Amino acid sequence: MILVTGGAGFIGANFVIDWLNAVDETVVNVDKLTYAGNLGTLRSLRGDPSHIFVREDICDRDAMDLLFEKYQPRAVVHFAAESHVDRSIRGPADFVRTNVVGTFMLLEAVRHYWQDLPASERSAFRFLHVSTDEVFGSLSPFAPPFTETNPYAPNSPYSASKASSDHLVRAWHHTYGLPTLTTHCSNNYGPYQFPEKLIPLMLTSALAGRPLPIYGDGKNVRDWVYVGDHCSAIRAVLAKGKLGESYNIGGFNEVANIDVVRALCRLLDALRPKTSGSYFEQIASVPDRPGHDRRYAIDAHKLKHELGWKPEETFETGLEKTVHWYLDHPDWVSDVSSGEYLSLVDADERISA
Ligand SMILES: NC(=O)c1ccc[n+]([C@@H]2O[C@H](COP(=O)([O-])OP(=O)(O)OC[C@H]3O[C@@H](n4cnc5c(N)ncnc54)[C@H](O)[C@@H]3O)[C@@H](O)[C@H]2O)c1
Repeated sequence: MILVTGGAGFIGANFVIDWLNAVDETVVNVDKLTYAGNLGTLRSLRGDPSHIFVREDICDRDAMDLLFEKYQPRAVVHFAAESHVDRSIRGPADFVRTNVVGTFMLLEAVRHYWQDLPASERSAFRFLHVSTDEVFGSLSPFAPPFTETNPYAPNSPYSASKASSDHLVRAWHHTYGLPTLTTHCSNNYGPYQFPEKLIPLMLTSALAGRPLPIYGDGKNVRDWVYVGDHCSAIRAVLAKGKLGESYNIGGFNEVANIDVVRALCRLLDALRPKTSGSYFEQIASVPDRPGHDRRYAIDAHKLKHELGWKPEETFETGLEKTVHWYLDHPDWVSDVSSGEYLSLVDADERISA
């Protein structure tokens, strides 16, 4: 079996669902269930013996040790993190705690488990650390996209905490020989994303008739990757990645934030027209975020050339799928908006180990 951390969050849950569809192997899903963890997303897996949910904090070393002893996974895919830049500006402490200290605790638990494995299992073991393109800082408009060898230049408390965790993973490979892999992915979008992130925030605000707040001039550029493509890239790196290496994951889709919002308005005007007027009229500018990085762009050719991965979705096809998903799942959105999803915790803990 494999052990996934943060598998009740946006990307982790998509990964768990994808994994169980694509691979016949049990997942132990370890998640603290912060505000970002949502067991409602995993509802389709209820009663599935291939999915074992355990509510734990990765900062709890004893709990991590017990998990490894009990489940003996052959690999770890580490998603658990505080992930929202605006929250990291308002309160950076949780970011240092989970992203830095939590990754350290997890690495130590993994190292102690891994070093006592029989030789064949030791060499087959993998620790895959899921990181972000934001560790590389901001690009000027015409600079080439980030490659795996770009120097680190994190600018927000979020990206600094992720950069720190990357360095720990790198050091645990070089110092202790832990078989690690690191991925740096660009902005994800798709089903089950918490409506504090750009695309679901704009979608839910548009449908509720609220303003669509764009930071500054809206020209901040991000490289968008559909979450299903991120999941398939992680599977490829886990299966075939070279130990100690890092791989960039991107969608080859650089789009300015304002153009993302315009594309959403166009889709909504076509799929869910308002009784009068257009969603475009709800677009509103708000003061820029402090230290807002201007541009991220990822060069994912290493992953393409060495491991044969490429994204299946273009920005247009991925965005249309995403809009359809949100329109078709108003209950998931309203459970998140009302906080109802938090009440699922007690019910589902009974299926915990
Ligand atoms: N969202 C993106 O666009 C993006 C892009 C690149 C990389 N990433 C990385 O991918 C990973 C997942 O991102 P996401 O968008 O799904 O995040 P998310 O915030 O939606 O989910 C994070 C999950 O981690 C859990 N968690 C938080 N602290 C924990 C702790 N101490 N112990 C155990 N579980 C804990 C939360 O409960 C939640 O389920 C993160 O490491 C993030 O840095 C995200």
